[in-house]
Amino acid sequence: MRHLFTGVCLTALLLCAGVSSTRVAAQAAPTAAAPTTAARTVWNGAYSAEQAARGRDAYAQHCQRCHVFDEAGRPTRFIGDRFWRRFGDDTLDGLFLPIRTNMPNNQPGTLAVPTYLDIVAFLLQQNDMPTGAAELTEQDLPSIQLVSRDGPAPIAADSLVAISGCLVQEGAEWRVTNASAPIRLRAAGAPVDQARLGAAGKTFALKYLLVPPTRMKGQWVTVRGLMMSTGDAVNVSLINAVQPACPN
Ligand code: HEC
Repeated sequence: MRHLFTGVCLTALLLCAGVSSTRVAAQAAPTAAAPTTAARTVWNGAYSAEQAARGRDAYAQHCQRCHVFDEAGRPTRFIGDRFWRRFGDDTLDGLFLPIRTNMPNNQPGTLAVPTYLDIVAFLLQQNDMPTGAAELTEQDLPSIQLVSRDGPAPIAADSLVAISGCLVQEGAEWRVTNASAPIRLRAAGAPVDQARLGAAGKTFALKYLLVPPTRMKGQWVTVRGLMMSTGDAVNVSLINAVQPACPN
């Protein structure tokens, strides 16, 4: 039944080649309860005080030449609104990876991984996130969510998102029902974590389908695309079947 798990590419917007059938098949089964409440976030304490202190020294040594401290010794570029707009509603990977890959700008990727982690810890501390018992590790990054204290902010129109839900047809309209809350995708081909896409009773209309996804009707699918301004419809780029049946 391999065909059940193969993605359909509906427009040229996304890089379909990045979504392999094996990866889709390996995704976890959707759970009945929305898992978001149980997910680990930065508000559970993601780093230690010592780590953030080391991070301040490393930032002073390797970063502040270009990203200056303000008079209070804070890394202005990476705190408050500017921090949240760029890095919020993602996992800690979304903060770590651009730094690890591109910085320091004149010598990208030259610091040790623990030093980059220390700097991330420092930035979390500077954004008033609590310390925890353990240090932040590289393994933690994809599983800790960087969300505001009140949970994820509503996703803005035209953001690239993923949603999982039950694919249904009503007349000429296609929808996903019992759907998860949308999660923001960092890049078109980014893998999605099905644990964050559990059934949550939402409905989204699927717009601009070039090919009706008839063969996935009644299946549990993941839809990628751009959130439309109404907040309840997606301009679809890609639909993948995740499970051949929808959970009740
Ligand atoms: C030689 C100057 C220089 C140094 C040193 C430097 N940066 Fe940058 N940084 C830049 C430039 C230039 C950009 C890209 C333009 C911009 O966003 O300001 C940038 C962008 C960034 C971004 C935004 C990336 C994004 O994807 O939005 C982050 C985060 C960052 N730097 C963190 C750091 C950290 C942490 C260090 C220390 C390890 C560091 N930088 C060292 C010059 C520098």
